[in-house]
This record gives sequence, C-alpha cells and structure tokens, in this order.
Amino acid sequence: MKVYLETMGCQMNRLDSELVEAALRAAGMELTDDARGADVLLYNTCAVRRHAEDKVHSRLGWACRRKADGRRIIIGVLGCMAQRLGEQLLRRHDGLDIVCGPGQLAGLAEMIAAAGPQPKVALDPSRRDGPPGDDAVERLDAGRDAAHTHLPGQAYVRIMRGCDKFCSYCIVPLVRGPERSRPSELILAELRRLVDAGVTQATLLGQTVNSYRHDGAALADLLERIDGVDGLRRVRFVTNYPADFDRAILQAMRDLPTVCEYLHIPAQSGSDRVLRAMGRRYTRSEYDELIDAARETVPGIAIAGDFIVGFPGEREEDFAASADLIRRSGYKNSFIFKYSPRPDTSADKRLPDDVPEPVKRRRNGELLAVQEEVSLAGNRQLVGRTMEVLVEGPSPRADRQPVPAPAGQTQMLGRTRGDHIVVFDGPASLAGQYVDVEVTAATALTLTARAATPQAR
Ligand code: 5AD
Ligand code: SF4
Repeated sequence: MKVYLETMGCQMNRLDSELVEAALRAAGMELTDDARGADVLLYNTCAVRRHAEDKVHSRLGWACRRKADGRRIIIGVLGCMAQRLGEQLLRRHDGLDIVCGPGQLAGLAEMIAAAGPQPKVALDPSRRDGPPGDDAVERLDAGRDAAHTHLPGQAYVRIMRGCDKFCSYCIVPLVRGPERSRPSELILAELRRLVDAGVTQATLLGQTVNSYRHDGAALADLLERIDGVDGLRRVRFVTNYPADFDRAILQAMRDLPTVCEYLHIPAQSGSDRVLRAMGRRYTRSEYDELIDAARETVPGIAIAGDFIVGFPGEREEDFAASADLIRRSGYKNSFIFKYSPRPDTSADKRLPDDVPEPVKRRRNGELLAVQEEVSLAGNRQLVGRTMEVLVEGPSPRADRQPVPAPAGQTQMLGRTRGDHIVVFDGPASLAGQYVDVEVTAATALTLTARAATPQAR
C-alpha cells in the first residue's frame, strides 16, 4: 500500500508526521511523494488560522472527487483540524474515510487497515474529561525510526504536549489538550537513541516549553541533563511563553555548551491594551525586561518573535507599539500573522473582528518591513565573522546563484547556533556536518559565506 502524507503547520506537526511515517512503514506500508499514484492520501493539518484550514478543504475536495471518479483510495485527515471539526468533516467531504486527532495517531495504521464503507473517527477526549492518558502517544514517540529524521543529523524531540495558557485568540488549548510534560528519562533515552543513529542537533518541542515540569525538574534542569548526553552538539527549544520565564533558562544557555544561543519568544503585541485583550499574562515592560535579561546574560543571543496584527480593537497606536517592540527587541526574525478568528475561542465569542482586512494587510506589510530593516541591520553586524554552521544540504536556490559554484561543489545551506541561515559553496557531502564559515555578505534573510574549514571536523 502506497501512502501520501502531506504536512501543514508547526514543527510539532512535522514531528508527528515523521512518527506516523515510521509507524506506517513498520506496518508494511510504503511512503510516496506522488499523490496521484497513492492508495492512501493523508493530510496532517493545522487549525491555528482559517487559511490553513481552507487549504485542507481544497485538498480534500480534490481527493474526494478522485474517489467519486472510481479510484479506490483511502482518505484521511489527521491532527488539529481533525480534532477541531471531527464528524463535521465527514458531512462536508463525502468519501473521507479517516478523521484522527493528534493524540490518536498511534492507532492510525490499524485505522487504515480497517478502512471500509463506514468512516473511522478517533478523537482525543475533550479537556472537560480531564487529562488524556498518554500511553498511546508515548507508543508513537517510542516507535520513532532514529535513522529517518527530517534533516541529516537533526531531530525534533517532544518534551511536552498541550497548552494551558488559553490566549483568547488561540485554538491550540482546545485541540492539543492540557499541558503534560514527558518524564526526563524518556526524553534522555530517546536522545541517546537518536545520537547513536547520528543525530547531533536536537530541537525540543512544546507549545510552551518553558512551562516544562516533571517530578520537580524544570526546563533548566532538563537542559542540564541533556547537556550530558555524549555526542550531542546542539540543543534548541521552542516555543517559549514570556510569562513565568525562569532566568535559570538563560543561565543554562550561557553555561551549557550544547544549548544554542537562540530564543523564540513570541510577544504577539507590543501594546498592553492588546496584550490584556489577548489574555497574555505579561505586560510590555515585563517583556522588555525579559529581553534585556536575555541580552545581558547571553552575549550574542539571537531572539525571534511572533506577532498578530489586526487583533480586535487594535488601534494605530497599538500597532505602532508592536513596531516599536520589534525595533527595541532587535529580533533576528519574526513571524507576523493577520488575526484570524477561531470558532470557540474566547476572542471569537467576545470580540468582533473589527479591523478591516485591508488594514490588517497594511499593518502586516508594515510590520514585515520594520522587521526586515531590523534583520538586515543585525545580519550586517555578522559580516566578517567566522561562525559554525550545521549543514542541512544543498540550498533550494542553488540553481539561481548569480555566480555558479566551482566544479564538484554546489551552494549549500546551513544554520548557525543562533539559527541564522547561511549559504556557501561546498561539496554536497557536507550535509549533516559542522563547518566553520566566514560571512562575506548579508541580506535580511540570508548570510552568504565561504567555508573557512574546507573539511568537516
Ligand atoms: N490568528 C492569527 N494568528 C494566530 N496565531 C495563533 N492563533 C492565531 C489566530 N487566531 C499565531 C501566534 C502564534 C503562532 C503560532 O500563530 O502568533 O504564536
Ligand atoms: Fe496558543 Fe497562547 Fe498556548 Fe501559544 S501560549 S499555544 S498562543 S494559547
């Protein structure tokens, strides 16, 4: 059986898809990139913004039409949108066979094997019914195939699931359930297995990773244990929530050699009025203090953020405060989103979506332009520096390089400890290796460099 799996959304979804692939391969199925030739079409979905869901509906429309044309295919929706819409998806898409919530993926292979005239629906229990048992999900994580990671030498590792913050705009607490941290022994065992298979960089995942707590151990303690894993060279952790941010995490970043000098810490807005309406549990000045502490404690730290523009009631002066925050924080980059009302969130129930679409679009563009300026200034500071990159592989833009790479080489793409994207000419065999490069030029998005150590170390 050939399975096509398309993944939308965040890194957590990419990890889930990787684990699903391992489980399906173990069940004897084969993965394919060719949707037209597949027997099973799966979509691992995101529910954070309407746009992401619209895309899935159009994929499902296509898939169900093929089925109506007489092709024998199995169609499944996985992840957050499956959890949010459940049976409604079956009513909207005639021909859909499987609806599988994010906590039920361990059972997906059986659902595919049992597919028949009756569609199969497996959803996580509602939050009201208390925390779900994590055995099934642990089974999924435990079955991971350490040899197949998303990039050579790199792996995502889940350290917690769910979210209890309930920001007023956000669907995540409703679809990913309550916060649950994994025991550090399981995380360490998984990391050791990954390292044995050649992984040297781990990205720890959680919706609010700095809320990690298990048996009295907090994120800083976990980082210290992870730093002791022999053979691991780099650790990052995403995403952080700015309230209750333990300064010990910054000290761990400063003191532990594996912990990268990188912090993704979404502010969402620079205005106290909007932060309050968003239900974010910190003020602008608390956020500013945190950024100051990060820069003081960790020299050279790269900070990244997220912003939402056009939140209900956002005035020009609130928007200006967000632009100001980007300048003040000096983000390496930030992700900027137009507010998208999500059914059943408290913002959608209480607040009219009153910022007109053209205003959202303009603010989105203006904020991107401010961020671009800030990114460029930051990147220019790096020209002339020698930096260590972990090479991901050939750059997707290699064929559009103005000056072609020397014979036997191609334009390679790697990332610094601060997650800066670097391109440089080198042999394709460098994928998964660490190389010291000297930065020669900078744009807002990319550093250009030449290899300072031609051989991998
Ligand atoms: N509308 C727009 N953006 C949103 N995000 C979360 N919910 C919404 C929404 N309803 C953004 C936040 C978050 C990122 C993952 O997506 O910025 O950090
Ligand atoms: Fe959503 Fe807020 Fe939780 Fe992040 S912290 S997942 S934005 S509710």
